[in-house]
Amino acid sequence: MNAKSHDRARYAFSMRGQDGSVRDFSIDAAPGITVLEALIHVYRNEDATLGFRYSCTVGRCYSCLMRMNGETVVSCRETLVDGAMLEPMLNRAAIRDLATEDPLLKPSRER
Ligand code: FES
Repeated sequence: MNAKSHDRARYAFSMRGQDGSVRDFSIDAAPGITVLEALIHVYRNEDATLGFRYSCTVGRCYSCLMRMNGETVVSCRETLVDGAMLEPMLNRAAIRDLATEDPLLKPSRER
């Protein structure tokens, strides 16, 4: 956290898509914001083209899996680390940016 006030902090983080492109973001948010909350904030306020995936938001479906600083995280449960690099899962087919195919969500005829 670079700058901190009473209940807000500035977080800088980056996203490297499967095409290798890097995008940098900076948001003001409450301390303890999750990775997914930060991505939703960016989507709603800065860049509606940002691709990521989620469903339950409570750590049960694992559709929001991604990597933060090289480690696999459940983004709806993981606290954002200032300066983090977010990347898509390597073992799932790319859709766009951080969004990847979820094998459990494929139509039954494709399983
Ligand atoms: S959105 Fe379901 S586990 Fe994160």
